[in-house]
Amino acid sequence: MAEGKDAFPKNPLSWTRWLTVLALLTVAAMYLYFFFPARDIGPRQPVSFSHRVHAGVKQIECRFCHSYVERSMHAGLPEVEKCFFCHNHIIPTHPEILKEKQYLEGKRPVPWVRIFFVPDFVKFRHQPHIQWAKADCAKCHGDVRTMDRLINVNFQMKFCIDCHKQNNAQLDCYLGCHH
Ligand code: HEC
Ligand code: HEC
Ligand code: HEC
Ligand code: HEC
Repeated sequence: MAEGKDAFPKNPLSWTRWLTVLALLTVAAMYLYFFFPARDIGPRQPVSFSHRVHAGVKQIECRFCHSYVERSMHAGLPEVEKCFFCHNHIIPTHPEILKEKQYLEGKRPVPWVRIFFVPDFVKFRHQPHIQWAKADCAKCHGDVRTMDRLINVNFQMKFCIDCHKQNNAQLDCYLGCHH
């Protein structure tokens, strides 16, 4: 009997050790939380729009919603009205669609959280990249067809320069990319 008692002592760790373990776990959890905030999923949006559902599963063309990407500097985000081309008929009573409907009825644009941007002093236009360079959206934005909430890619100048070198595109900084 004494043996059993030794093999499984009643109090294997004193409470101070338990506290130490607990403190370490808390610190580790906080570290993970602050330094690796959910990497595989982007910021929460006012309406939970999913690119995976629309561009992935339902295969809706990017350009249907981002209509200016071929012709102008900005790709543009779809107006609220565009959602209701479909959602007047498709799942019109879904809670998120009802939320979207409030923006429609209030004639307010949805305040989508901006995800991709370059600094003010950088000149970037979609049009030459799509029309002339024939670059794929995924090359710069990642595979958005698999993402529910888009994640940011932090554009570094090297990213632009490397591709320009590979494609013999312009490398003249001030006439070219910087204002
Ligand atoms: C049914 C409409 C729809 C389709 C189709 C669609 N998008 Fe979007 N896109 C949106 C909406 C709405 C937003 C704003 C909300 C968000 O960021 O998720 C957005 C945002 C984005 C953004 C981020 C803009 C920012 O804030 O910086 C990128 C990049 C993007 N879309 C690329 C694509 C690509 C690439 C495709 C095709 C593979 C595509 N989208 C297809 C509606 C659409
Ligand atoms: C070309 C048609 C089309 C357009 C435009 C469209 N959707 Fe959808 N949407 C769909 C389809 C199809 C589904 C899938 C419905 C289902 O699961 O039965 C869907 C599903 C959804 C869902 C539910 C997704 C989920 O998680 O199950 C939401 C929310 C949504 N759409 C929001 C939007 C918003 C916001 C816009 C405008 C920026 C938009 N949709 C534009 C076709 C469209
Ligand atoms: C060569 C890289 C590159 C390619 C290719 C590219 N984008 Fe972008 N995109 C960017 C950059 C850089 C920004 C940020 C621009 C800014 O801050 O003004 C951006 C911003 C956006 C935005 C948000 C704001 C806006 O309206 O400009 C959307 C939406 C978008 N891109 C959609 C697309 C779609 C759809 C495609 C493919 C048809 C595409 N992009 C192809 C680099 C690219
Ligand atoms: C996929 C490769 C690729 C990437 C990534 C890329 N570019 Fe380009 N870029 C090109 C090519 C190719 C051209 C030449 C297009 C032409 O004129 O035929 C070009 C042209 C340009 C031009 C000249 C056309 C204009 O708008 O006046 C500017 C400026 C530019 N890129 C800026 C940028 C910036 C800033 C970035 C990074 C955010 C970037 N590019 C990322 C391939 C790329």
